Amino acid sequence: MAVPVGIHDIALATGHYAMDLSELAERHGVDVGKYYLGLGQREQTVPATDEDIVTMAAAAAAQIVATHGAQDIRTILLATESGIDHSKSAAIPVQELLNLPAATRAVELKQACYGGASALQMAAGLVERDPAHRVLVIASDIARYDIDSGGEATQGAAAVAMLVSADPAVAVLEPESGLYTADVRDFWRPNHRSTPRVDGKLSVSVYLEAVERAWKDYEARGGRALREFAGFCYHQPFTKMAYKAHARLLEINGTAPDQGLLDRDLGHTTVYNGVIGNSYTASLFVGLLSLLDHAEDLSERSVALLSYGSGCVAEFFALRMVPGYRQRLRTEANRAAIERRERISYDRYRAIRDFALPEDGSSLALEHDGAGPFRLRGVSDDSRIYEARRLTRV
Ligand code: CAA
Repeated sequence: MAVPVGIHDIALATGHYAMDLSELAERHGVDVGKYYLGLGQREQTVPATDEDIVTMAAAAAAQIVATHGAQDIRTILLATESGIDHSKSAAIPVQELLNLPAATRAVELKQACYGGASALQMAAGLVERDPAHRVLVIASDIARYDIDSGGEATQGAAAVAMLVSADPAVAVLEPESGLYTADVRDFWRPNHRSTPRVDGKLSVSVYLEAVERAWKDYEARGGRALREFAGFCYHQPFTKMAYKAHARLLEINGTAPDQGLLDRDLGHTTVYNGVIGNSYTASLFVGLLSLLDHAEDLSERSVALLSYGSGCVAEFFALRMVPGYRQRLRTEANRAAIERRERISYDRYRAIRDFALPEDGSSLALEHDGAGPFRLRGVSDDSRIYEARRLTRV
């Protein structure tokens, strides 16, 4: 790589509400220990009725645009599993909400939870071709499962935006990567469904197989030795999955995965995901932010990332932290986004879950519900209409 390329800035957004999983455990008639300890999840973000993947994506990316301006951003790559249109990219309303230049390439990427990592790699390719070019990569998702299903306890929502550039101030994307693709039916969402079809047990075993295969490809391509990494970020459908995945990685490298080692390698990466829940494409990068916001200085150390998207595609790759990166972190803002969520009961969650936008072409104006910088104002002629929330409050 002629010029170092990677993450110049990174920002988080999540939804307006949060539900403690004790509420769900009571409804499901299970011991809350199953969710708190067995899955490693304490709370889940519940988006307000006027929030969706576009408002969260714009809320995350607006922080980056406020710091760096829109200058030289010529591409927006928005990765999501929970798209709002079968045809039009959700990057387009984000471009409009952020007043980004019309001379912008705005595209949506899809491969379940893997889309965010693929967007990062593709962004790096664009920047390598033209180092003056900056790419806004956004991973934004709302994880939603059938009511009373096993997956319901793993729901969540978040967006992570990253500015990818040459000479990045946060982390350099290392060139080696290990890949794995296989056609499996562990989790998928046909166009007619708002929730996925899931074979939960199969999905866990396919994820573990994918970790092994992606790692072996990474090794074969001359990647780093395991001991060189200062941290390991995994896609976290629930935080215990990261523990299962890392135990597999250690085992295939001849190391016994004792609890102390697992906690040391993963503990910092699970703090945010444990209270946000699954955020599909964003989850891996929420884990990265959690690590960076809680770990000691990792300057000039490498961090491993394992992205897994059901169906399935996996990638093992690495970031090298740039000296001084800690000054660029938005730790207070990240914590505030999580802490200010309004805690709600199961009944309130259920009312929000049962609310649905019209599917018959009729129009609907939405009441104010959330408090983020952007909101879904309503639906008109089958189009979602967005606005900056402050504009309606003056
Ligand atoms: N105290 C402590 N632990 C308890 C407990 C208690 N009282 N009761 C149960 N547990 C433990 C169990 O022993 C189990 O732990 P282990 O896996 O370590 O054995 C854990 O809690 C979960 O219990 P179950 O397996 O019985 O739970 P379940 O049948 O409800 O299914 C699940 C769990 C399959 C993950 C389900 O939540 C699900 O389908 N989730 C959605 C799919 C998913 O997240 N898959 C992950 C891989 S796919 C992927 O990563 C892509 C993606 O984002 C979807």
